[in-house]
Amino acid sequence: MTHRGQEFGLAGREVPGDAVVTGFGRIDGRLAFAFAQDFTVLGGSLGEMHAKKIQKVMDLALGAGAPVIGIDDSGGARIQEGVDALDGFAGIFRRNTLASGVIPQISVIMGPCAGGAVYSPALTDFVFMVDGTSQMFITGPDVIRAVTGEEVTFEELGGARTHNERSGVAHFFAEDEAACLGQIRRLLSFLPQNNLEDPPVRPYDPATVAPDPSLREAIPPDATKPYDVRTIIAAVVDGGDFLEVHERYATNAVVGFARLAGRPVGIVANQPRVLAGTLDIDASDKIARFVRFCDAFNLPLVTFVDTPGYLPGRAQETGGIIRHGAKVLYAYAEATVPKVSIVLRKAYGGAYIAMCCRGLGADLAWAWPSAEIAVMGAEGAANIIFRDAIARAADPEAERRRRIAEYREKLYNPYVAAGRGYIDAVIDPAETRPRLVRALLALSGKREERPPKKHGNIPL
Ligand code: HXC
Repeated sequence: MTHRGQEFGLAGREVPGDAVVTGFGRIDGRLAFAFAQDFTVLGGSLGEMHAKKIQKVMDLALGAGAPVIGIDDSGGARIQEGVDALDGFAGIFRRNTLASGVIPQISVIMGPCAGGAVYSPALTDFVFMVDGTSQMFITGPDVIRAVTGEEVTFEELGGARTHNERSGVAHFFAEDEAACLGQIRRLLSFLPQNNLEDPPVRPYDPATVAPDPSLREAIPPDATKPYDVRTIIAAVVDGGDFLEVHERYATNAVVGFARLAGRPVGIVANQPRVLAGTLDIDASDKIARFVRFCDAFNLPLVTFVDTPGYLPGRAQETGGIIRHGAKVLYAYAEATVPKVSIVLRKAYGGAYIAMCCRGLGADLAWAWPSAEIAVMGAEGAANIIFRDAIARAADPEAERRRRIAEYREKLYNPYVAAGRGYIDAVIDPAETRPRLVRALLALSGKREERPPKKHGNIPL
C-alpha cells in the first residue's frame, strides 16, 4: 500500500510498506497475527495506509479468533498526514477495544514510541519492553523541554525500567530483544487462542501430584517474619514453572501464570517480603487487572493470602486507595472462572475479603493451620476493644498482653471461620498441590451466570 500524502515533502516520496509489515504465522504450531513498525522509514510513523494495514491484520485476527502481536517502533501519528493519521489511530484504538477480552493482544515496544504508538499498547493485554532500547511516552524529551523547560532523558521518561518498576505501564522486562520474543512465546503457551476456547493443556506426570512435606515449614513460626511467597507458588505448581507478570511493579503482590496438572491457571498472592504484603494502590490495580484478564480468558484463579490489610496512610488515602482498592473487590466478585483461595497466614479485615474470600465468590476457600483470620491484628484489636480494661488495670502492660493473648486464642485461628463455613477446610500444607489439582479438575466444568447487562462500572 502506498501513501497519498502531498504535503511537507511526501509528494512522490516512496515510503516502503508505508513503514509497517503485517502478516500471520505460527508460534509453537498455533496461529498468531502480527504487525511490526519500521523506524527506519519515516520514524515508523503512522500514516493513513500504515493504519489501514494494521487495522486489516487486527480484523483478520479477531475474525479468526487468534492472538495479535504488535511490534511497536514508531514516533506516533505521521505529522505530515495530519488528520488522516489521527483517524488511523482512532480506528486502531477502537479495534483494540472491541478485541479486548476476545483475543489476547500483546504489544512489544522495540524502539522509541510516542503518541498514539503508546496508547494502542496501553489498550492491549500485555506490554513487553527491552532494557535500554525501548521507550514509551506520550511526547518525547524535546517537546517537554519546549513546553515545560524540564530536562529529562529518554530512559528516565519512558525506559523499560521506568515503566516496569514505577508506572506499571509495562508488564514484562527483557534484557534484550531475543529474550523478549522468547518471553512472548512462553506467555502464549498459557493462553487460549480466544475467549471461547480453554487454555492449552499440557501432558504432566501424575507422580508429581504428591504431598510436599517441605511446605509445612514454608512459613516462619514467628508471624512477624517475612518469607518469599514465590517459593510456595513454585512448590505447588507444575515443575515450579511460574511466569510472573508485573514482576518489578507493586512487588507487595505477586501475579502470574502457571499450570496445575497441565492446565494453565492464574496465580495471585500477597508478598509478605514487601510492605508486609499489604494491599496498596498499585498492588490493587495490578491484581484487579490480572484477575479480569484471567476471567476473560478462562483461566482459573488460585489465590494465596497473607496480608495484614490495605496499607494505611495519608498518601494512600489521598491517592484514592478506596477507589483503587475497590477494583480488587469488583474484579474477584465479577469473575466467573473457578476460584480457589488459600489463607496461608494473615487475612485481616478488608484484605481478607478482597483476596477472594468465600463471600466474595471463591468456590473453595482453604486455610493452612497457620492462618489468622480476623478483623485486624490481635494487638490493634485488643487495644481498641479492651481499652478501658487495660487503662483500669493495676498493671496495664500485663493486662494488655493478657487481652492480646485472649483475642488471639479466641478469634485468631482458621477454625472459627471453618465452623461458620467461610473456610471449607483447614488443610495440611503438604497437601496443597494434590488438593488444588483435584479441586480444579472438579471445577473445570463450572458455569456461573450473571444478570444480563451492557457492562458493569468498575471503579477506575
Ligand atoms: C513523521 C516522524 C515522526 C512523526 C519521527 N519522525 N516521528 N515523522 N511523523 N510522528 C521522523 C523524524 O523526522 C526523523 O526523520 C525520523 O523519524 C527519526 O526521528 P528522530 O527524531 O531523529 O529519532 P529519535 O531522536 O530517536 O526520536 C524519536 C522520537 C521523536 C522520540 C519518537 O522522533 C519524536 O519525538 N517524534 C515525535 C513524537 C510525537 O510527538 N508524535 C506525534 C504524537 S501525536 P529523518 O528524516 O530526520 O530521519 C499522536 C496522536 C495520537 O500520535 C493521539 C493518542 C491519543
